[in-house]
Amino acid sequence: MPLLTIQPSGKTIEAAEGTSLLDALLAAGEKIVSKCGGNAKCGQCHVFVQEGRKTISKMTRVENEMLDTIIGVGSKSRLACQAMFGTEPVTVEVLSFV
Ligand code: FES
Repeated sequence: MPLLTIQPSGKTIEAAEGTSLLDALLAAGEKIVSKCGGNAKCGQCHVFVQEGRKTISKMTRVENEMLDTIIGVGSKSRLACQAMFGTEPVTVEVLSFV
């Protein structure tokens, strides 16, 4: 299983291929908000994918449209609920302010 490294905590866990970043982050004990239940409607699960962007699932139009509404979005931005693990390691920076 690919490894997920979480910043800034530095935690590393294994995540199965096809698992969403959101589910993996919650399983790791990260306090990440998901008010819409993982439906790309709240934008609260915004993270920066620092490494491994090519291995996670491609961005859908729905995710892209939601990201367009969020302040502070950059080229590494993803909605954790919409990004699924592939087969390579991934490093994610959690921005949650909870
Ligand atoms: S959990 Fe709401 S957009 Fe991801």
